[in-house]
Amino acid sequence: MPNVRTQVGIVGAGPAGLVLSHLLYLRGIDSVVLENRSRQYVEERVRAGVLEQGTVDLLAEMGVGERMKKEGLVHYGIELRFLGRGHPIDFRELTGGKGITIYAQAEVLKDLNDARIATGGQVFFEVEDVSVHDFNTVQPKISYRKDGHAYELACDFIAGCDGFHGTCRPSIPHGVLTEYERVYPFGWLGILAEAPPSSEELVYCYHDHGFALLSMRTPQIGRLYLQCKPDEDIAEWSDDRIWHELQVRLASTGWKLAEGPVLQKGVTGMRSFLVDPMQYGRLFLAGDSAHIVPPTGAKGLNLAVADVQVLARGFDKFYKTGDHTLLDRYSQICLRRIWKVQRFSWWMTSMLHRFPDGTPFDQRRQIAELDYVTSSRAAATSLAENYIGLPMEWD
Ligand code: APR
Ligand code: PHB
Repeated sequence: MPNVRTQVGIVGAGPAGLVLSHLLYLRGIDSVVLENRSRQYVEERVRAGVLEQGTVDLLAEMGVGERMKKEGLVHYGIELRFLGRGHPIDFRELTGGKGITIYAQAEVLKDLNDARIATGGQVFFEVEDVSVHDFNTVQPKISYRKDGHAYELACDFIAGCDGFHGTCRPSIPHGVLTEYERVYPFGWLGILAEAPPSSEELVYCYHDHGFALLSMRTPQIGRLYLQCKPDEDIAEWSDDRIWHELQVRLASTGWKLAEGPVLQKGVTGMRSFLVDPMQYGRLFLAGDSAHIVPPTGAKGLNLAVADVQVLARGFDKFYKTGDHTLLDRYSQICLRRIWKVQRFSWWMTSMLHRFPDGTPFDQRRQIAELDYVTSSRAAATSLAENYIGLPMEWD
């Protein structure tokens, strides 16, 4: 029988919701997570896979890092490829030894779900008709249906961790939130392939035909992307056509792209979006429900984790001392860093993609930018420190 009361009611069992729930558990704070999809669906959804050092450290501190440490691939750089040549950006050297870890979001979610279940966490999947109420009072409520029955969960606070299309953000009265948005005139066609990655490092490639990215999940499974139209019809892309286009864009002298069976493919649109503030009364938005970044730079999951780290500390302080100043500053603390990450994701996207209305001037400028980033230590350091993850500034 689901709880009728909890301290923090969490909507959504993605990275934001599950990390928050476990962080709260570790601080002795009770939470209930309500997710409208099945556990299997959430754990099998193919999403990002690059973890900043700060994300890795947090997951390890939370006791959910064992498999990540064993199976994750630690990378100390990326390659930028343009005009048929690759140029390494060496994070280790540029940032004093820091790197990133490749470990799929789906695996992070499996580890978090296992940890939540092992510690008696209340995570309810396949709940329906979730709606949030009274969050402008001290007794917010979440109503939902499960197995045909209607329930109401009374909470002290609600965390809206329900992604970009969730119900929490639209429940905030009109006029409270300012939205900032940029929609890009292209998307990414992504594949998961049974093909060992052809490069040790991730390759971000600028090409006349458009951007391409070589990434990976494991030493046996590659993850590759092609810039495409935002509304590209995946049915028009046979596996052969995808591999051919990847070969053309990623071509580099003395280098060969290994092919293999395509396990999954899909198209995603690209946007930059955020709301300010990320809070209204006792409803706090975290992760994709508050902001979206284009995937160039792989920041989405890391931003979600950073938000809930701030939120968990705020709740901790409130429950220990009654002091809500950290909770009151939640938006301000998060948004300062989020804007910088938005800037970085926009910058990587703008540098590496072909814009449909791009002029020859724009294209030469992009090449000059890539040339600069790969030849100036100052510029390369800027890319590296953003890629491995900026610190949170608490003041
Ligand atoms: N009721 C309950 N759950 C909901 C509702 C709803 N009305 N709407 C959405 N959800 C669930 C979704 O099914 C999803 O599991 O909320 C969860 C939100 O998870 P994500 O979309 O993964 O968002 P978040 O946890 O903020 O993580 C952001 O994950 O996939 C990425 O690109 C994204 O990397 C970014 C990161
Ligand atoms: C991925 O592996 O899915 C990935 C890697 C780097 C990115 C985006 C996505 O910038």
